[in-house]
Amino acid sequence: MEDRIKSIQTDFDNEIAVVDDIKKLEEIRLKYLSRKGLVPLLFEDFRKLPSDEKPKYGKTLNILKNVVQQKFDDVKNNLEMNASGKKSTVDLTLPARRNEVGSLHILTQTLYEMKEIFKGLGFSVYEGPELESDFNNFEALNFPADHPARDMQDTFFINENFLLRTHTSPVQVRLMKSKKPPLRAIMPGKVYRNEAISAKSYCLFHQVEGLYVDTDVTFAELKGTLVAFAQQFFGENVKYRFRPSFFPFTEPSAEVDIWWEPKGKQGRWLEILGCGMVDPNVLRNVDIDPEKYTGYAFGMGVERTAMLRYGITDIRTFFDNDKRFLTQF
Ligand code: DAH
Repeated sequence: MEDRIKSIQTDFDNEIAVVDDIKKLEEIRLKYLSRKGLVPLLFEDFRKLPSDEKPKYGKTLNILKNVVQQKFDDVKNNLEMNASGKKSTVDLTLPARRNEVGSLHILTQTLYEMKEIFKGLGFSVYEGPELESDFNNFEALNFPADHPARDMQDTFFINENFLLRTHTSPVQVRLMKSKKPPLRAIMPGKVYRNEAISAKSYCLFHQVEGLYVDTDVTFAELKGTLVAFAQQFFGENVKYRFRPSFFPFTEPSAEVDIWWEPKGKQGRWLEILGCGMVDPNVLRNVDIDPEKYTGYAFGMGVERTAMLRYGITDIRTFFDNDKRFLTQF
């Protein structure tokens, strides 16, 4: 009995190994597995064995039956799948596909970092919409309709009264209209300008606005805050300067420049933000009493700042989504 089991197993293995079509497979089924096939015949003979011999072969016989059936099913499946054109096998020699992990865009990283620094200086974060009213973007900020300062910013108008905000300063207006002082917040977001696109300017960029309104807010505090920011962001030894400037919504006004000296190149000053003491007219426009309260404000270019810190020379690279650029950060 044992020899028969073994030889059936070997014969079956040899025959099934070379089967390459359904017809040959059917012949094998008839020979081994059909009702009169070799395997069921073995079982018939097994039943005739004296009962003391049965335990000896029962197990091997069952294993034979299962193995034969399993192999037969596998080959059948493969043949059927091949016939329907599907690949039945997995090519284990292929190199594994690399799992590419994304990362935060350098602008997002920069914004996160700026927020953290200002949070540490006592500022909360407030946001406003990108589609803004002419009133919030210009009028309330002391740009009258015919004021020449409006020329500083080429605006994407939606209609006569609405536009894509040209700076984040209208969020100051929203904040001062909705909450009473003391107020201390930064307002990050996208801004839009209808400018000729070049390495230096793009139609879309980011700003972080800052506002502090309370009793007795001074220019010295504004300076202290911005210097603390610059030192945390660019490093303790950052070289900076405050330069007098003009904005309709601040008086006095200044701009802050950072010294930029790429290796082996001539150094120069680069402007990163505008700032000043909130103009009393602006406070009046939002129903805050300028006799009682003073405030400072600033607006910082995020791309500019990131370009300086990372030595990026073309603002357009932020928006190209070129992986060779993105993966550097
Ligand atoms: N909004 C100005 C701009 O986009 C920047 C600015 C200047 C913001 C002075 C301020 C400020 O809050 O006080 O050019």
